Amino acid sequence: MGNTIKLNVMQEKPVEEDSTDENSWIFTEDKLLFHKDKIKEFQETGVTFPVAFDIDLTNLCGHRCPHCCGSRNISREDKGTNSTHQDFERLKRLLSEIKELGGRSVTYAGGGDPSLYPHFAEILRYTKSLGLDMGMYTNGHILKEECLDAMIDCCTWIRVSLDADSPEIYEIAHGMPGKVFFTVVNNIGRLIERKKVKQKNVTISTCFLIGPKTLKAAYGAAKLSRELGVDHIRIRPYFQMPGDDRTRLQIDETFKFLEKCKELETEGFKVSYPMHRVEWMDDKNRVRKYKKCYAVHFLTSITPDGNVYPCCNMKDRPVTSLGNIKEKSFKDVWYNENRKSISGKIDLRFCPNPCNYEKQVKFLWDIIESGKPVDEYCKEKGLTPPEQKGIHKNFL
Ligand SMILES: C[S@@+](CC[C@H](N)C(=O)[O-])C[C@H]1O[C@@H](n2cnc3c(N)ncnc32)[C@H](O)[C@@H]1O
Ligand code: SF4
Ligand code: SF4
Repeated sequence: MGNTIKLNVMQEKPVEEDSTDENSWIFTEDKLLFHKDKIKEFQETGVTFPVAFDIDLTNLCGHRCPHCCGSRNISREDKGTNSTHQDFERLKRLLSEIKELGGRSVTYAGGGDPSLYPHFAEILRYTKSLGLDMGMYTNGHILKEECLDAMIDCCTWIRVSLDADSPEIYEIAHGMPGKVFFTVVNNIGRLIERKKVKQKNVTISTCFLIGPKTLKAAYGAAKLSRELGVDHIRIRPYFQMPGDDRTRLQIDETFKFLEKCKELETEGFKVSYPMHRVEWMDDKNRVRKYKKCYAVHFLTSITPDGNVYPCCNMKDRPVTSLGNIKEKSFKDVWYNENRKSISGKIDLRFCPNPCNYEKQVKFLWDIIESGKPVDEYCKEKGLTPPEQKGIHKNFL
């Protein structure tokens, strides 16, 4: 797989011990142990059907977050092109295929904002009717009544990207007029209220991306989230792309600050952050502890134009498309010989460092490279699936 993008790639340095990440809450790599059957199948045959699907319903989003990871694909207005939205009938066929062949979860992330998909409520209900677990991200700006109902009725989790504690910070974080902040806060309130009325146990979280200009606002956003009655706030740094340091933070200050946010936790409100993604702001920690990514056999990402990618971080690179479901079934794309050999072809120097699946990639690397069957490996290491309540086990 050729890649001509020129990037300023970090030097790889010696590996240090792993740190334990007690702040990750449900975002733990050992969730993969709920899918030992798939790890076993992969070890025995070199192929398995993915656990988790990341599907972009649309590329449409009216927001202008300056560091949006999807920005190269985003349309600012609906031009009605085929690549803007998933074709509804094709998407339903895909979801049925996913269910039939053993997929376990679907995340509607983006791309753009899933809530702007013309068949949003219908597709959530369809996904749920198949018995697939489902989660979604949204900026929470435009949530029509029927959409809000479908979200509460169908999702295992909903994450609203709040990213601010005030209209001023919202302008910086989302590139939108400050008044949109109040609309989003109001919509979070509507979600919480609807959850109570319907007595559903969907996990409602807010998300906060910390950058040099917004770090300090995370505390206020956590406090606000708690007051609104959300279950959890996820505070995390931007992906660090090799050679791009615009969103890098000073780690000691960041950790101190995150600990302060953690003090806001109560029994019903969690504050989580990926410790390793903060630690890796320091160059000496920016060493990959694996040489191949096997996670791409357990997850996949599909864009509105039907292209299938190894993961959500590969979507803006057309060369990494594994095939297109406009032309073939997903099964044909997935079991193609070229796709099966994908792990050996990914040039890790072009992946975010660390990537959002970092822990899962390392976990799978250790198991698979040990050469031992997964059951034997887990027995030797004393590994068992995590027990936390609300673990969202089918999401990686
Ligand atoms: C690409 S957005 C799409 C969904 C929706 N529009 C939203 O903002 O929630 C999905 C998630 O990725 C996060 N995100 C965007 N740009 C990012 C970046 N450069 N690094 C890490 N996460 C990013 C957003 O904050 C959001 O929580
Ligand atoms: S709201 Fe989401 S998709 Fe839209 S620009 Fe911001 S991060 Fe990107
Ligand atoms: S290392 Fe991360 S970004 Fe790279 S292919 Fe694997 S999951 Fe994707």
